[in-house]
Amino acid sequence: MKKLRVVQWTSGSVARQCVRAMVAHPDLELVGMYAWSKDKVGRDAGELCGLPALGVAATDDIDALLALKPDCVCYNALWPSVEDFEKILAAGINIVTTSMFLTGWALTTKQTGGIPDAIPRIEAAARRGNATVFGSGMNPGFASYLACILTGICHRFRHIRITESVDVSMFAGDGNMEPLGWGLPRDSPGHKETVMEETRVFGDALEVMAAMLGVALDDKRCTVDFAYATEDLPLEGRHIAKGTVAAIQVRWEGMVENRPVMELNQLWVMGTKIEPAWRAEHAYIINIDGDPMLQNRLDIWPCQDMATMQKDDFHGIGMTITGLPAVNAIPQVCAAAAGIQTYADLPAIAGHGRLQHD
Ligand SMILES: NC(=O)c1ccc[n+]([C@@H]2O[C@H](COP(=O)([O-])OP(=O)(O)OC[C@H]3O[C@@H](n4cnc5c(N)ncnc54)[C@H](OP(=O)(O)O)[C@@H]3O)[C@@H](O)[C@H]2O)c1
Repeated sequence: MKKLRVVQWTSGSVARQCVRAMVAHPDLELVGMYAWSKDKVGRDAGELCGLPALGVAATDDIDALLALKPDCVCYNALWPSVEDFEKILAAGINIVTTSMFLTGWALTTKQTGGIPDAIPRIEAAARRGNATVFGSGMNPGFASYLACILTGICHRFRHIRITESVDVSMFAGDGNMEPLGWGLPRDSPGHKETVMEETRVFGDALEVMAAMLGVALDDKRCTVDFAYATEDLPLEGRHIAKGTVAAIQVRWEGMVENRPVMELNQLWVMGTKIEPAWRAEHAYIINIDGDPMLQNRLDIWPCQDMATMQKDDFHGIGMTITGLPAVNAIPQVCAAAAGIQTYADLPAIAGHGRLQHD
């Protein structure tokens, strides 16, 4: 099989794992890298991703990257840019992304900075270039895909809940944590609304689930709760003062006739010094109220000896499970019909080509 040529868009936390996953894959070839940060321009992609030199220099020249005519861009910028998507797709280049984009709903409905015509613009560019865009990640993304697959052994289901229950303190300094209001005082006006706005992409994930399951959602709703630090938390990249927000529970629900039928429940805590004393399960837990009733717990463990693990290694696992659903989808996305495609449209995506031969 001819290798699929991929341009990596940015080299942040998720992107570094995507590049690692790409260069280790027999069917993928890294041919270019976009740098958003000026100080990364000209540097080798391997150096930027903690790997040996790869002979690919990062550039901020988008036209030069498009001129490489890659099969796909792996887009992991901090925020999705409709302009970037349009340029890439119209040039006939497919996109896989983890950048808060699955169906485009969140982009179009965001109260501040939303782009109401984002979906038709992206679809039009994709049709012009006969190219596809697919968004995933661990959650939103793979976790709800897995839950939908599980319903394949049910006669019927009444409700599906996917709970992401994680201690996120090692991600405290990450860029995507910034807008969530960690460390805000109790009852800060508008805080719940802000969390809802910043997590709208979970609404995209509800849409994907609904499409996979043949459910017509009438509505989506979001509820937010907080827990507070019982002492000062001097985390790496963020200081959370005693009494301020140190845990967030955000639940996105898909509704049919005023009844929630699917729920994406995120419980994110910054350690254990919080009240109420919410405890992270460190897992993805899927509960299906159906016939039969199902519960599935996905634990994720490092493959190396825990004693040798550094903080970056743990962080890297979170970024791996985010990036790999996108990278592993590249062959299916390159073969897909033009437009915005989701798990509801693509053939099954697994770790194809990833058997380790030793
Ligand atoms: N679905 C999931 O499970 C999941 C989980 C985690 C993260 N994510 C998403 O995946 C994406 C990447 O996450 P990450 O942790 O890798 O992010 P990150 O490291 O903070 O940022 C990624 C890159 O974005 C570029 N960048 C920085 N500031 C920017 C800005 N203001 N506008 C546009 N680009 C900017 C930088 O590019 P350079 O490398 O060129 O400097 C940076 O390295 C984010 O959208 C994040 O929300 C999804």
